[in-house]
Amino acid sequence: MEDIAELKLDGKSWKFPVVEGTEKERAIDISALRNDTGYITLDDGYGNTGSCQSQITFIDGERGILRYRGIPIEELAEKSTFIEVAHLIIMGRLPSSAELRRFSDLLTDNELLNESMKHHFEGFPTFAHPMAILSSMINASSCFYPELLSENSKEHFELQAARLLSQVRTIAAFAYRWSRGLPIIYPKPDLKYTANLLHMMFSLPYQDYDLKPEAAKALDLIFLLHADHEQNCSTATVRMVASSRANLFASAAAGVCALWGPLHGGANQAVLEMLEEIHREGDDGSRFIKAAKDKGSGKRLMGFGHRVYKNYDPRARIIKQACDDLLSKLNISDPLLDIAKHLEEAALSDSYFIERKLYPNVDFYSGIIMRAIGIPVEMFTVIFAIGRMPGWIANYREVMESSSSRISRPRQVYMGPTLSHYRPIKERK
Ligand code: CMC
Repeated sequence: MEDIAELKLDGKSWKFPVVEGTEKERAIDISALRNDTGYITLDDGYGNTGSCQSQITFIDGERGILRYRGIPIEELAEKSTFIEVAHLIIMGRLPSSAELRRFSDLLTDNELLNESMKHHFEGFPTFAHPMAILSSMINASSCFYPELLSENSKEHFELQAARLLSQVRTIAAFAYRWSRGLPIIYPKPDLKYTANLLHMMFSLPYQDYDLKPEAAKALDLIFLLHADHEQNCSTATVRMVASSRANLFASAAAGVCALWGPLHGGANQAVLEMLEEIHREGDDGSRFIKAAKDKGSGKRLMGFGHRVYKNYDPRARIIKQACDDLLSKLNISDPLLDIAKHLEEAALSDSYFIERKLYPNVDFYSGIIMRAIGIPVEMFTVIFAIGRMPGWIANYREVMESSSSRISRPRQVYMGPTLSHYRPIKERK
Protein backbone atom coordinates (compact mmCIF):
# COMPACT_ATOMS: atom_id res chain seq x y z
CA MET A 1 0.00 0.00 0.00
CA GLU A 2 1.27 3.43 -0.91
CA ASP A 3 2.34 5.49 2.10
CA ILE A 4 0.80 8.87 2.65
CA ALA A 5 1.99 11.53 5.13
CA GLU A 6 -0.78 13.22 7.03
CA LEU A 7 -0.41 16.76 8.34
CA LYS A 8 -2.77 18.19 10.95
CA LEU A 9 -2.84 21.96 11.25
CA ASP A 10 -5.44 24.53 12.30
CA GLY A 11 -7.92 21.76 13.00
CA LYS A 12 -7.69 20.46 9.42
CA SER A 13 -5.86 17.52 7.93
CA TRP A 14 -3.97 17.21 4.61
CA LYS A 15 -2.37 14.26 2.87
CA PHE A 16 0.95 14.29 1.02
CA PRO A 17 2.43 11.48 -1.07
CA VAL A 18 5.61 9.69 0.00
CA VAL A 19 8.23 9.25 -2.73
CA GLU A 20 10.58 6.30 -2.43
CA GLY A 21 13.98 6.24 -4.15
CA THR A 22 15.57 3.15 -5.71
CA GLU A 23 17.66 2.72 -2.54
CA LYS A 24 14.56 3.03 -0.31
CA GLU A 25 15.21 6.61 0.79
CA ARG A 26 11.88 8.19 1.55
CA ALA A 27 10.69 11.74 1.09
CA ILE A 28 7.41 13.51 1.69
CA ASP A 29 6.43 15.31 -1.49
CA ILE A 30 5.30 18.70 -0.23
CA SER A 31 5.09 20.45 -3.59
CA ALA A 32 1.39 21.15 -2.98
CA LEU A 33 1.90 22.28 0.64
CA ARG A 34 1.71 26.05 0.23
CA ASN A 35 -1.13 25.93 -2.25
CA ASP A 36 -3.15 23.59 -0.04
CA THR A 37 -2.35 24.94 3.41
CA GLY A 38 -0.73 28.38 3.07
CA TYR A 39 2.28 27.08 5.00
CA ILE A 40 5.84 26.64 3.78
CA THR A 41 8.58 24.51 5.36
CA LEU A 42 11.62 26.07 7.03
CA ASP A 43 14.91 24.19 6.76
CA ASP A 44 18.03 26.29 7.29
CA GLY A 45 20.95 24.88 5.33
CA TYR A 46 18.55 22.42 3.57
CA GLY A 47 19.58 19.52 5.84
CA ASN A 48 16.15 17.91 5.38
CA THR A 49 15.22 19.14 1.94
CA GLY A 50 15.38 17.05 -1.21
CA SER A 51 15.75 19.60 -3.98
CA CYS A 52 15.51 17.16 -6.89
CA GLN A 53 15.27 13.54 -7.95
CA SER A 54 18.56 12.42 -9.43
CA GLN A 55 20.01 9.28 -11.01
CA ILE A 56 23.69 10.12 -10.71
CA THR A 57 25.12 9.48 -7.24
CA PHE A 58 23.94 7.60 -4.18
CA ILE A 59 25.26 8.34 -0.68
CA ASP A 60 24.31 6.59 2.53
CA GLY A 61 25.99 8.76 5.14
CA GLU A 62 25.12 6.48 8.05
CA ARG A 63 26.78 3.46 6.43
CA GLY A 64 29.58 5.34 4.67
CA ILE A 65 28.44 4.34 1.16
CA LEU A 66 29.14 6.26 -2.03
CA ARG A 67 28.21 5.00 -5.51
CA TYR A 68 28.38 6.65 -8.92
CA ARG A 69 25.54 5.39 -11.14
CA GLY A 70 25.21 2.42 -8.76
CA ILE A 71 28.90 1.41 -8.76
CA PRO A 72 30.70 1.52 -5.37
CA ILE A 73 33.45 4.12 -5.13
CA GLU A 74 35.87 1.45 -3.86
CA GLU A 75 35.51 -0.56 -7.10
CA LEU A 76 35.95 2.50 -9.27
CA ALA A 77 38.98 3.66 -7.28
CA GLU A 78 40.62 0.29 -7.71
CA LYS A 79 39.74 -0.47 -11.33
CA SER A 80 38.86 2.69 -13.22
CA THR A 81 40.29 6.05 -14.27
CA PHE A 82 39.01 9.59 -13.96
CA ILE A 83 38.08 9.85 -17.64
CA GLU A 84 36.21 6.55 -17.66
CA VAL A 85 34.37 7.68 -14.52
CA ALA A 86 33.64 11.06 -16.11
CA HIS A 87 31.97 9.18 -18.97
CA LEU A 88 30.05 7.05 -16.47
CA ILE A 89 28.80 10.10 -14.60
CA ILE A 90 28.02 12.35 -17.57
CA MET A 91 26.72 9.78 -20.07
CA GLY A 92 25.13 7.47 -17.49
CA ARG A 93 27.10 4.28 -18.26
CA LEU A 94 30.61 2.86 -18.38
CA PRO A 95 31.91 3.33 -21.93
CA SER A 96 32.72 0.57 -24.41
CA SER A 97 36.28 0.74 -25.82
CA ALA A 98 35.02 2.63 -28.86
CA GLU A 99 33.02 5.07 -26.72
CA LEU A 100 35.99 5.68 -24.43
CA ARG A 101 38.24 6.33 -27.44
CA ARG A 102 35.70 8.73 -28.89
CA PHE A 103 35.30 10.55 -25.58
CA SER A 104 39.09 10.81 -25.05
CA ASP A 105 39.54 12.06 -28.64
CA LEU A 106 36.87 14.69 -28.07
CA LEU A 107 38.71 15.86 -24.95
CA THR A 108 42.03 15.99 -26.82
CA ASP A 109 40.52 17.84 -29.79
CA ASN A 110 39.19 20.50 -27.44
CA GLU A 111 42.06 20.94 -25.01
CA LEU A 112 43.35 24.23 -26.43
CA LEU A 113 41.90 27.54 -25.32
CA ASN A 114 41.21 30.19 -27.90
CA GLU A 115 44.61 31.85 -28.25
CA SER A 116 43.27 35.28 -27.35
CA MET A 117 42.28 33.91 -23.93
CA LYS A 118 45.95 34.07 -23.02
CA HIS A 119 45.70 37.85 -22.78
CA HIS A 120 42.89 37.58 -20.23
CA PHE A 121 45.28 35.92 -17.78
CA GLU A 122 47.55 38.95 -18.00
CA GLY A 123 44.79 41.10 -16.49
CA PHE A 124 45.01 39.28 -13.16
CA PRO A 125 47.59 40.21 -10.54
CA THR A 126 50.07 37.39 -9.97
CA PHE A 127 48.83 37.08 -6.37
CA ALA A 128 45.23 36.45 -7.53
CA HIS A 129 43.74 33.28 -6.06
CA PRO A 130 43.55 30.69 -8.86
CA MET A 131 39.91 29.90 -7.95
CA ALA A 132 38.99 33.48 -8.89
CA ILE A 133 40.86 33.07 -12.18
CA LEU A 134 39.30 29.66 -12.80
CA SER A 135 35.77 30.86 -12.30
CA SER A 136 36.28 34.02 -14.39
CA MET A 137 37.99 32.18 -17.22
CA ILE A 138 35.41 29.40 -17.41
CA ASN A 139 32.75 32.06 -17.79
CA ALA A 140 34.91 33.99 -20.28
CA SER A 141 35.37 30.82 -22.38
CA SER A 142 31.65 30.76 -23.06
CA CYS A 143 32.07 33.96 -25.10
CA PHE A 144 33.99 31.95 -27.69
CA TYR A 145 31.11 29.53 -28.22
CA PRO A 146 28.06 31.67 -29.01
CA GLU A 147 26.15 28.53 -30.01
CA LEU A 148 26.09 27.71 -26.26
CA LEU A 149 23.33 30.24 -25.93
CA SER A 150 21.13 28.83 -28.63
CA GLU A 151 21.64 25.18 -29.52
CA ASN A 152 20.48 22.40 -27.22
CA SER A 153 20.92 19.11 -29.09
CA LYS A 154 22.45 15.97 -27.54
CA GLU A 155 25.51 16.10 -29.80
CA HIS A 156 25.99 19.74 -29.07
CA PHE A 157 25.84 19.00 -25.33
CA GLU A 158 28.55 16.35 -25.65
CA LEU A 159 30.83 18.80 -27.42
CA GLN A 160 30.25 21.52 -24.81
CA ALA A 161 30.78 19.03 -21.98
CA ALA A 162 34.06 17.84 -23.55
CA ARG A 163 35.22 21.42 -24.06
CA LEU A 164 34.53 22.28 -20.45
CA LEU A 165 36.08 19.14 -18.98
CA SER A 166 39.17 19.46 -21.13
CA GLN A 167 39.64 23.21 -20.90
CA VAL A 168 39.14 23.50 -17.14
CA ARG A 169 42.45 21.65 -16.88
CA THR A 170 44.17 23.97 -19.39
CA ILE A 171 42.82 27.05 -17.60
CA ALA A 172 43.96 25.68 -14.23
CA ALA A 173 47.50 25.08 -15.52
CA PHE A 174 47.69 28.49 -17.23
CA ALA A 175 46.47 30.21 -14.03
CA TYR A 176 49.24 28.50 -12.09
CA ARG A 177 51.91 29.43 -14.65
CA TRP A 178 50.74 33.04 -14.64
CA SER A 179 50.85 33.24 -10.84
CA ARG A 180 54.49 32.08 -10.95
CA GLY A 181 55.55 34.35 -13.83
CA LEU A 182 56.29 31.25 -15.92
CA PRO A 183 55.73 30.88 -19.68
CA ILE A 184 52.60 29.05 -20.75
CA ILE A 185 53.06 25.39 -21.64
CA TYR A 186 50.56 23.99 -24.16
CA PRO A 187 48.90 20.59 -23.73
CA LYS A 188 50.40 17.56 -25.47
CA PRO A 189 47.82 15.49 -27.33
CA ASP A 190 49.62 12.20 -26.65
CA LEU A 191 49.41 12.57 -22.87
CA LYS A 192 46.54 11.29 -20.79
CA TYR A 193 44.25 13.75 -18.98
CA THR A 194 46.00 13.90 -15.60
CA ALA A 195 49.56 13.56 -16.95
CA ASN A 196 48.79 16.42 -19.33
CA LEU A 197 47.83 18.68 -16.42
CA LEU A 198 51.11 17.92 -14.66
CA HIS A 199 52.99 18.57 -17.92
CA MET A 200 51.28 21.95 -18.41
CA MET A 201 51.94 22.91 -14.80
CA PHE A 202 55.52 21.78 -14.43
CA SER A 203 57.32 21.43 -17.79
CA LEU A 204 59.66 24.14 -19.00
CA PRO A 205 59.85 25.32 -22.61
CA TYR A 206 63.24 23.62 -22.93
CA GLN A 207 62.65 20.63 -20.64
CA ASP A 208 59.76 18.25 -20.15
CA TYR A 209 58.61 17.59 -16.60
CA ASP A 210 59.88 14.30 -15.22
CA LEU A 211 56.48 12.66 -15.05
CA LYS A 212 56.30 10.04 -12.34
CA PRO A 213 53.55 7.52 -13.13
CA GLU A 214 52.81 7.06 -9.40
CA ALA A 215 52.18 10.79 -9.04
CA ALA A 216 49.88 10.92 -12.09
CA LYS A 217 48.02 7.85 -10.79
CA ALA A 218 47.51 9.37 -7.34
CA LEU A 219 46.24 12.65 -8.80
CA ASP A 220 43.93 10.76 -11.17
CA LEU A 221 42.55 8.97 -8.11
CA ILE A 222 41.94 12.30 -6.37
CA PHE A 223 39.99 13.49 -9.43
CA LEU A 224 37.99 10.26 -9.53
CA LEU A 225 37.09 10.44 -5.83
CA HIS A 226 35.87 14.01 -6.23
CA ALA A 227 33.94 13.44 -9.46
CA ASP A 228 30.48 13.76 -7.92
CA HIS A 229 28.88 13.93 -4.50
CA GLU A 230 25.16 14.52 -5.03
CA GLN A 231 23.62 17.77 -3.79
CA ASN A 232 26.60 19.43 -2.09
CA CYS A 233 26.84 23.21 -1.99
CA SER A 234 28.56 23.68 -5.38
CA THR A 235 26.49 21.09 -7.25
CA ALA A 236 23.29 22.52 -5.82
CA THR A 237 24.57 25.92 -7.01
CA VAL A 238 25.18 24.58 -10.51
CA ARG A 239 21.63 23.17 -10.58
CA MET A 240 20.21 26.40 -9.21
CA VAL A 241 21.93 28.47 -11.94
CA ALA A 242 21.05 25.90 -14.61
CA SER A 243 17.40 26.07 -13.55
CA SER A 244 17.29 29.63 -14.89
CA ARG A 245 18.46 28.10 -18.21
CA ALA A 246 21.88 29.76 -17.97
CA ASN A 247 24.47 28.05 -20.16
CA LEU A 248 26.74 25.19 -19.06
CA PHE A 249 29.86 27.34 -18.68
CA ALA A 250 28.08 30.02 -16.61
CA SER A 251 26.58 27.34 -14.36
CA ALA A 252 29.97 25.64 -13.84
CA ALA A 253 31.66 29.00 -13.13
CA ALA A 254 29.11 29.54 -10.35
CA GLY A 255 29.94 26.06 -9.05
CA VAL A 256 33.61 27.04 -8.80
CA CYS A 257 32.69 30.07 -6.67
CA ALA A 258 30.60 27.96 -4.30
CA LEU A 259 33.35 25.37 -4.04
CA TRP A 260 35.94 27.97 -3.09
CA GLY A 261 34.71 28.45 0.52
CA PRO A 262 36.68 26.80 3.36
CA LEU A 263 33.66 24.85 4.59
CA HIS A 264 33.41 23.17 1.18
CA GLY A 265 36.22 22.63 -1.39
CA GLY A 266 38.47 25.23 0.21
CA ALA A 267 38.83 22.83 3.14
CA ASN A 268 41.69 20.97 1.43
CA GLN A 269 43.77 24.16 1.43
CA ALA A 270 42.63 24.92 4.99
CA VAL A 271 43.67 21.43 6.17
CA LEU A 272 47.21 21.85 4.92
CA GLU A 273 47.47 25.34 6.38
CA MET A 274 46.22 23.93 9.70
CA LEU A 275 48.81 21.11 9.61
CA GLU A 276 51.56 23.61 8.77
CA GLU A 277 50.48 25.85 11.64
CA ILE A 278 50.50 22.92 14.08
CA HIS A 279 53.95 21.92 12.82
CA ARG A 280 55.32 25.47 13.04
CA GLU A 281 54.12 25.83 16.60
CA GLY A 282 55.69 22.54 17.65
CA ASP A 283 52.28 21.17 18.71
CA ASP A 284 51.56 17.49 18.10
CA GLY A 285 47.94 18.40 17.46
CA SER A 286 46.66 18.20 21.04
CA ARG A 287 46.47 21.97 21.50
CA PHE A 288 44.69 22.38 18.19
CA ILE A 289 42.12 19.70 19.06
CA LYS A 290 41.42 21.53 22.30
CA ALA A 291 40.92 24.80 20.39
CA ALA A 292 38.69 23.11 17.78
CA LYS A 293 36.34 21.98 20.56
CA ASP A 294 36.07 25.49 21.92
CA LYS A 295 33.43 27.42 19.95
CA GLY A 296 34.95 30.72 21.07
CA SER A 297 38.32 29.95 19.43
CA GLY A 298 36.95 30.30 15.92
CA LYS A 299 38.84 27.11 14.96
CA ARG A 300 37.53 23.87 13.56
CA LEU A 301 39.35 20.69 12.87
CA MET A 302 39.50 21.15 9.11
CA GLY A 303 39.00 18.00 7.05
CA PHE A 304 36.70 16.63 9.76
CA GLY A 305 32.93 16.38 9.74
CA HIS A 306 30.42 16.21 6.95
CA ARG A 307 26.79 17.14 6.51
CA VAL A 308 25.91 13.70 5.15
CA TYR A 309 28.55 11.26 6.45
CA LYS A 310 27.97 10.38 10.06
CA ASN A 311 30.49 7.60 9.63
CA TYR A 312 33.95 7.43 8.00
CA ASP A 313 33.87 9.15 4.59
CA PRO A 314 34.66 6.25 2.20
CA ARG A 315 36.77 8.59 0.07
CA ALA A 316 38.94 9.47 3.07
CA ARG A 317 39.73 5.81 3.67
CA ILE A 318 40.87 5.36 0.04
CA ILE A 319 42.86 8.61 0.05
CA LYS A 320 44.60 7.76 3.31
CA GLN A 321 45.83 4.48 1.82
CA ALA A 322 46.85 6.21 -1.43
CA CYS A 323 48.74 8.81 0.59
CA ASP A 324 50.72 6.15 2.45
CA ASP A 325 51.45 4.31 -0.84
CA LEU A 326 52.59 7.41 -2.72
CA LEU A 327 54.86 8.70 -0.01
CA SER A 328 56.51 5.33 0.35
CA LYS A 329 56.93 4.92 -3.45
CA LEU A 330 58.41 8.40 -3.79
CA ASN A 331 60.46 7.83 -0.65
CA ILE A 332 59.10 10.96 1.01
CA SER A 333 58.74 11.34 4.73
CA ASP A 334 56.39 14.22 5.56
CA PRO A 335 56.00 15.37 9.18
CA LEU A 336 52.55 16.71 8.27
CA LEU A 337 51.38 13.16 7.59
CA ASP A 338 52.44 12.15 11.09
CA ILE A 339 50.58 15.13 12.54
CA ALA A 340 47.47 14.28 10.49
CA LYS A 341 47.51 10.68 11.69
CA HIS A 342 47.93 11.80 15.27
CA LEU A 343 45.08 14.31 14.93
CA GLU A 344 42.83 11.63 13.48
CA GLU A 345 43.65 9.16 16.24
CA ALA A 346 43.12 11.76 18.95
CA ALA A 347 39.85 13.04 17.48
CA LEU A 348 38.40 9.58 16.95
CA SER A 349 38.83 8.78 20.62
CA ASP A 350 37.59 12.14 21.89
CA SER A 351 34.00 12.32 23.16
CA TYR A 352 33.40 15.72 21.45
CA PHE A 353 34.04 14.23 18.00
CA ILE A 354 32.44 10.86 18.82
CA GLU A 355 29.19 12.41 20.06
CA ARG A 356 28.91 14.66 17.00
CA LYS A 357 29.89 11.83 14.64
CA LEU A 358 32.77 13.81 13.18
CA TYR A 359 35.10 11.68 11.04
CA PRO A 360 37.86 12.57 8.56
CA ASN A 361 36.43 13.65 5.22
CA VAL A 362 37.89 13.57 1.70
CA ASP A 363 39.98 16.68 2.33
CA PHE A 364 41.88 15.39 5.34
CA TYR A 365 44.64 13.49 3.50
CA SER A 366 44.34 14.74 -0.09
CA GLY A 367 46.54 17.80 0.57
CA ILE A 368 49.45 15.63 1.68
CA ILE A 369 49.29 13.74 -1.64
CA MET A 370 49.18 17.00 -3.60
CA ARG A 371 52.08 18.40 -1.61
CA ALA A 372 54.12 15.26 -2.37
CA ILE A 373 53.42 15.77 -6.08
CA GLY A 374 54.61 19.39 -5.83
CA ILE A 375 51.22 21.07 -6.25
CA PRO A 376 51.18 24.33 -4.29
CA VAL A 377 48.55 24.78 -1.61
CA GLU A 378 46.64 27.56 -3.41
CA MET A 379 45.96 25.11 -6.26
CA PHE A 380 44.36 22.45 -4.05
CA THR A 381 40.81 23.70 -4.44
CA VAL A 382 41.38 24.10 -8.18
CA ILE A 383 42.26 20.39 -8.28
CA PHE A 384 38.97 19.68 -6.48
CA ALA A 385 37.13 21.79 -9.08
CA ILE A 386 38.67 19.87 -11.99
CA GLY A 387 37.66 16.61 -10.30
CA ARG A 388 34.09 17.80 -9.61
CA MET A 389 33.49 18.91 -13.20
CA PRO A 390 31.87 15.63 -14.39
CA GLY A 391 29.38 15.86 -11.51
CA TRP A 392 28.50 19.45 -12.31
CA ILE A 393 28.09 18.63 -16.01
CA ALA A 394 25.89 15.61 -15.29
CA ASN A 395 23.72 17.57 -12.86
CA TYR A 396 23.43 20.40 -15.38
CA ARG A 397 22.30 17.85 -17.94
CA GLU A 398 19.68 16.40 -15.60
CA VAL A 399 18.20 19.84 -15.04
CA MET A 400 18.13 20.60 -18.75
CA GLU A 401 16.67 17.25 -19.76
CA SER A 402 14.05 17.00 -17.05
CA SER A 403 10.58 17.76 -18.32
CA SER A 404 9.45 18.73 -14.82
CA SER A 405 12.33 21.05 -13.92
CA ARG A 406 11.23 24.51 -12.80
CA ILE A 407 13.32 27.54 -11.92
CA SER A 408 14.73 27.10 -8.40
CA ARG A 409 13.17 29.67 -6.18
CA PRO A 410 13.05 28.95 -2.44
CA ARG A 411 10.80 30.89 -0.12
CA GLN A 412 11.69 32.54 3.18
CA VAL A 413 10.07 33.44 6.47
CA TYR A 414 10.34 37.20 6.73
CA MET A 415 11.57 38.39 10.17
CA GLY A 416 12.23 42.06 9.33
CA PRO A 417 10.31 45.18 10.37
CA THR A 418 6.59 45.32 9.78
CA LEU A 419 5.10 48.17 7.75
CA SER A 420 6.88 51.48 8.34
CA HIS A 421 6.91 54.67 6.28
CA TYR A 422 9.51 56.73 4.47
CA ARG A 423 10.80 59.69 6.53
CA PRO A 424 12.50 62.60 4.76
CA ILE A 425 16.24 62.76 5.62
CA LYS A 426 15.91 65.95 7.68
CA GLU A 427 13.47 64.24 10.05
CA ARG A 428 15.78 61.27 10.71
CA LYS A 429 18.01 61.07 13.76
N1 CMC B 1 35.65 20.74 14.10
C1 CMC B 1 35.05 21.00 15.28
N2 CMC B 1 33.71 20.96 15.47
C2 CMC B 1 32.95 20.65 14.40
C3 CMC B 1 33.51 20.38 13.15
C4 CMC B 1 34.92 20.42 13.01
N3 CMC B 1 35.50 20.17 11.85
N4 CMC B 1 32.52 20.12 12.26
C5 CMC B 1 31.38 20.22 12.94
N5 CMC B 1 31.63 20.53 14.24
C6 CMC B 1 30.64 20.65 15.32
C7 CMC B 1 29.85 21.95 15.20
O1 CMC B 1 30.48 22.99 15.93
C8 CMC B 1 28.53 21.54 15.79
O2 CMC B 1 28.67 21.48 17.20
P1 CMC B 1 27.39 21.80 18.18
O3 CMC B 1 26.36 20.76 17.83
O4 CMC B 1 27.94 21.69 19.56
O5 CMC B 1 26.95 23.19 17.82
C9 CMC B 1 28.34 20.09 15.31
O6 CMC B 1 29.69 19.60 15.13
C10 CMC B 1 27.58 19.99 14.00
O7 CMC B 1 28.23 20.81 13.03
P2 CMC B 1 27.51 21.67 11.91
O8 CMC B 1 28.39 22.82 11.54
O9 CMC B 1 26.12 21.96 12.32
O10 CMC B 1 27.48 20.61 10.74
P3 CMC B 1 27.19 20.92 9.23
O11 CMC B 1 26.60 19.69 8.67
O12 CMC B 1 26.43 22.18 9.07
O13 CMC B 1 28.66 21.19 8.62
C11 CMC B 1 30.81 20.85 7.73
C12 CMC B 1 29.41 20.23 7.94
C13 CMC B 1 31.57 19.92 6.77
C14 CMC B 1 30.68 22.22 7.07
C15 CMC B 1 31.52 20.93 9.09
O14 CMC B 1 31.68 19.64 9.64
C16 CMC B 1 32.89 21.63 8.99
O15 CMC B 1 32.95 22.86 9.06
N6 CMC B 1 33.99 20.85 8.80
C17 CMC B 1 35.30 21.46 8.60
C18 CMC B 1 35.42 21.92 7.16
C19 CMC B 1 35.59 20.77 6.20
O16 CMC B 1 36.40 19.88 6.41
N7 CMC B 1 34.85 20.85 5.08
C20 CMC B 1 34.95 19.85 4.00
C21 CMC B 1 33.71 19.02 3.85
S1 CMC B 1 33.99 17.57 2.82
C22 CMC B 1 34.31 18.21 1.25
C23 CMC B 1 33.09 18.76 0.63
O17 CMC B 1 32.31 17.98 0.09
O18 CMC B 1 32.95 19.98 0.65
